[in-house]
Amino acid sequence: MNLANEAAYDLWAGDYPPLPHNPLMAAEQAAVLALWPDVAGRRALDLACGSGRYGLLMQQRGARSVVACDRSAGMLARAPLACRVRADMQQLPFAAESFDVIACGLAVGHAPDLAAWMAEVSRVLAPGGVLVYSDFHPDAARVGMTRSFTDAGGQRHELAHALHEPDDHLRAACAAGLVLQGQREVRIGQDLTAPHLARWDGLRVVLALRWGKP
Ligand SMILES: C[S@@+](CC[C@H](N)C(=O)[O-])C[C@H]1O[C@@H](n2cnc3c(N)ncnc32)[C@H](O)[C@@H]1O
Repeated sequence: MNLANEAAYDLWAGDYPPLPHNPLMAAEQAAVLALWPDVAGRRALDLACGSGRYGLLMQQRGARSVVACDRSAGMLARAPLACRVRADMQQLPFAAESFDVIACGLAVGHAPDLAAWMAEVSRVLAPGGVLVYSDFHPDAARVGMTRSFTDAGGQRHELAHALHEPDDHLRAACAAGLVLQGQREVRIGQDLTAPHLARWDGLRVVLALRWGKP
């Protein structure tokens, strides 16, 4: 079933705790944490936060403030963070240079215009700030892997998303004035193993990137 993105995430929220809840998310989080900046004393934003997984980590690691932002009211309601903002990540209701660290997990594919997304995120990032994010690698979609879940009634839902190539990220970030500080990939067979994935040995399934704003 193809619900609109927001309705689908509202529905998924009940079964979406703020921690890695499957092996792919565990591998993705390990890749993101390998790029993780020092957040202590800094103003942090968990963008497209879902139930607040990265915002919680920011809080636990001593961020001065943490804002959790998502478009899904259902997801936001689950986030155990004091400051929650319902907004579209492509048009953020924040002043320029509001944050020192921005994290965004597994959501950039929901921005069809990557350059516009990057420009908007860069706008709210302060000079000296760091943006770290992950997303599904387009190679995974090309072999038929989907963003999908099964609801409490047994109905399967698949979410549409754009395929952004690694070069697209580089072009968009450079145009937004950001500088590459690190990258990681999650590969089946190396970072993620499961019997049902064995046929895709070596496939890149997640891309994680860290950018700095000079
Ligand atoms: C796969 S979930 C990831 C949630 C969380 N970042 C995590 O890694 O646990 C993607 C999230 O992106 C949010 N999202 C999708 N499109 C969005 C948009 N245009 N603006 C803000 N949030 C969006 C969804 O509501 C959902 O919570």
